[in-house]
Amino acid sequence: MILPLKLDHVGFGINGRTLIEPLSLEIGAGPSTIVLGANGAGKSVLMRLMHGLLEPTCGRISWSEAGARRRQAMVFQRPVMLRRSALANVAYALDAAGIRNPEKTALEALAEVGLAHLAHRPARVLSGGEQQRVALARAWALHPQVLFLDEPTANLDPGATHEIENIIRAFDFSGTKIVMSTHNLGQARRLGDEVVFLHRGRLAERAPVAEFFRQPASPEAAAFIKGEIPWV
Ligand SMILES: Nc1ncnc2c1ncn2[C@@H]1O[C@H](COP(=O)(O)OP(=O)(O)O)[C@@H](O)[C@H]1O
Ligand SMILES: [Mg+2]
Repeated sequence: MILPLKLDHVGFGINGRTLIEPLSLEIGAGPSTIVLGANGAGKSVLMRLMHGLLEPTCGRISWSEAGARRRQAMVFQRPVMLRRSALANVAYALDAAGIRNPEKTALEALAEVGLAHLAHRPARVLSGGEQQRVALARAWALHPQVLFLDEPTANLDPGATHEIENIIRAFDFSGTKIVMSTHNLGQARRLGDEVVFLHRGRLAERAPVAEFFRQPASPEAAAFIKGEIPWV
């Protein structure tokens, strides 16, 4: 098991601007973690740091086992689709990960997200919600121990959002650790077990989800919950 993930005084800056103020955080197995914050709070930067797409400018990030890179997957706000079928998009990722019978596994993964009937459609003509489901199938098929989801429904309508949330729940039930960022309070309540609240690049608070909404400990979180900070 690659968890817990430990961030030890991890900070990130670029061109003299601090985007993430040094923070320490331990992400354990089990309950899902929601990275919550307003637009521009630094959620995507933090997710990229945790997934290893960005190098911190200070501090240290460590997993409890070697080879963690291959046991974690990430899904982005805008799915990145290759110019080929939905099936080929998933199979390509499986092939790259060295998995045998990529096409068969890819089809199973697409069925898992309810897209078997669209397997042979070019991925780029699918709707935003369908493309996001392909992205989830691609991640699902790799059986990651940890799945990072960076605002996976931010561009979707309520119906597509609902479908994606159901898939995320299924991931969660299957034992994959979910680390998801969102600015959506309802989504945090629906899917989260614990909240990591970011405010202007600073870790303002971390709490179990029920406690966070009932009685936020930081004034920033209290204001955000009340809707006083639409963006920063
Ligand atoms: N590569 C980058 N270079 C410069 N500024 C960046 C870069 N990435 C993000 N930022 C800035 O960092 C802040 C946090 O961005 P981001 O993590 O995308 O916020 P969020 O995902 O919470 O909306 C924003 O002000 C954004 O403009
Ligand atoms: Mg973001």
